[in-house]
Amino acid sequence: MSVHTEVKKITTHQLQMMKSRGEKISMLTAYDYSMAKIIDAAGIDIILVGDSASNVMAGNETTLPITLDQMIYHTNSVTKAVKRAFVVADMPFGTYQGDSHEALRSAVRLMKEAAAHAVKMEGGSEIKESVDRVLSAGVPVMGHLGLTPQSIYKFGTYSVRAREEEEAQKLLEDAYVLQACGCFAIVLEKIPSELAKKVAEEIKIPIIGIGAGQDVDGQVLVVHDMLGINKEFKPRFLRRYADLHTIMTEAVQQYITDVRNKDFPNEKECY
Ligand code: KIV
Repeated sequence: MSVHTEVKKITTHQLQMMKSRGEKISMLTAYDYSMAKIIDAAGIDIILVGDSASNVMAGNETTLPITLDQMIYHTNSVTKAVKRAFVVADMPFGTYQGDSHEALRSAVRLMKEAAAHAVKMEGGSEIKESVDRVLSAGVPVMGHLGLTPQSIYKFGTYSVRAREEEEAQKLLEDAYVLQACGCFAIVLEKIPSELAKKVAEEIKIPIIGIGAGQDVDGQVLVVHDMLGINKEFKPRFLRRYADLHTIMTEAVQQYITDVRNKDFPNEKECY
């Protein structure tokens, strides 16, 4: 298997070059130091400190409850571990939508207090002012269109977005808006592959898909899902690369047995 593992920091410029060379961009989430260290050393291009931390780390039903302080905590843990990957921090719900000045303050906190390299915001033309203001301060912005989980109560369901012509057209227009603002990349979540292909062909900045098919510039998954730590979440787009749920359960059960049987610690494990 050939992956890029040399320690040369990934930049927005390199991501753009990867798109122009037709090299696929790999992206995974991480929320803590130990996981970030493993996936960075493995050669991932982008680490997303996603607000999916709200589900995966905190056990919330949606991404809405996570706070800016909590995102700063997770992002700070990740950036301390990373030597090569480009680290993008999600702007949590309620910290950028209504007020572009608040958006800038939130982004600045993620950059200053957590050493993020960029921020991600969900939405298109509705958040243009916030995207513009954050970019004007020199903070790279990644867009996020399609299924935007912060709007789950508006959508009412996590099913595929933009199947209808009107929504598909709006999504393409929003991608143009984000590109014109100066975003360095856009995530497309859970939309038909044909639409994602069209966006990736027309839009010049990298398009990263999750449930958006093969014909985009890169892929992103939630690390706990692709490692099989989380068993319950099984959408069609998810490929499991390991069954850590079983491996971890068996390891813990073995430990319990060893403690109960006085097999642990043994002589070599004592001082
Ligand atoms: O928060 C997250 O993990 C995300 C990805 C699903 C793209 O936004």
